[in-house]
Amino acid sequence: MRHFITTDDFSNNEILEIFNDAEKFLKHEERGDELAKKNVMTLFFENSTRTKSSFEMALKRLGSRVVHLDISKSSTSKGETLLDTAYNLKSIGANAFIIRHSDAGVTYKLAEHLNNKSSVINAGDGAFAHPTQAMLDLFTIMRYFPDPTGKKIAIVGDIRNSRVANSNIKLLPRFGIDITLVSPPHFLPKINIKSTNNLNEVINDVDIIMSLRTQTERHNQQVYSSLKDYAKDFCITEERLKNKNVILMHPGPVNRNIDISDGLMNDPRTKILEQVENGVAVRMAILKFLLAGNK
Ligand code: CP
Repeated sequence: MRHFITTDDFSNNEILEIFNDAEKFLKHEERGDELAKKNVMTLFFENSTRTKSSFEMALKRLGSRVVHLDISKSSTSKGETLLDTAYNLKSIGANAFIIRHSDAGVTYKLAEHLNNKSSVINAGDGAFAHPTQAMLDLFTIMRYFPDPTGKKIAIVGDIRNSRVANSNIKLLPRFGIDITLVSPPHFLPKINIKSTNNLNEVINDVDIIMSLRTQTERHNQQVYSSLKDYAKDFCITEERLKNKNVILMHPGPVNRNIDISDGLMNDPRTKILEQVENGVAVRMAILKFLLAGNK
């Protein structure tokens, strides 16, 4: 039984195999019974639009039975622990759990305690990891740059609090992509990757820009006097991008005119909705890889 907790759980060859399947799923080349008779539970302890809907669509297209636990109406409000919840759902028949939680590392703990009897798939835990988002981001990049070796990406925004950034920082260099982190000092993680707080300095030198949301819900204290002040330095705008040939990405949700200007949201260089569309195909391929075979 395989889990998917971080992108390190797949080798580069396995990732390329998954992407190959994802290309087929984008063209709707599934049978629709790949996960027949599988029972998958989705547990979202944090809000989600894209990831939750995308997983559910992916599971249904593969013929899986899907049970969504409504956390607000579940017995967690009566004090039941996450592990007890999982043991009970396992007894109900769960072959896999897809879980989002505010605590980093929860998915590791769950995988360990379920004793490898059900697959655990991380749909985002705290600021630690969001591996399926990084997979769909790399897949999107490789549709524009089939050999991404040497391509340059600027990851812009609240990097320290972003599980999307953390997962991409680990995954993209494995495929030869060169990362520059662009953020104010208080949003920078303490890692050894080149960085700057001057967006204008790097914007002319990159092939890909990945803008991130300022995660105010994870800030202990207000670090900018206002998001408008932050946007003056870090919002991706038409004025900054000019006619530069780049692809512009964002994992969503976008704070318009803080992360990316309204005008750029409809610009052909902006690939945000393609990322979302690719996300269904990539998640289908990941689910098939983890649950349909004997891995
Ligand atoms: N990208 C992402 O994780 O979006 P949601 O929070 O809407 O799932």
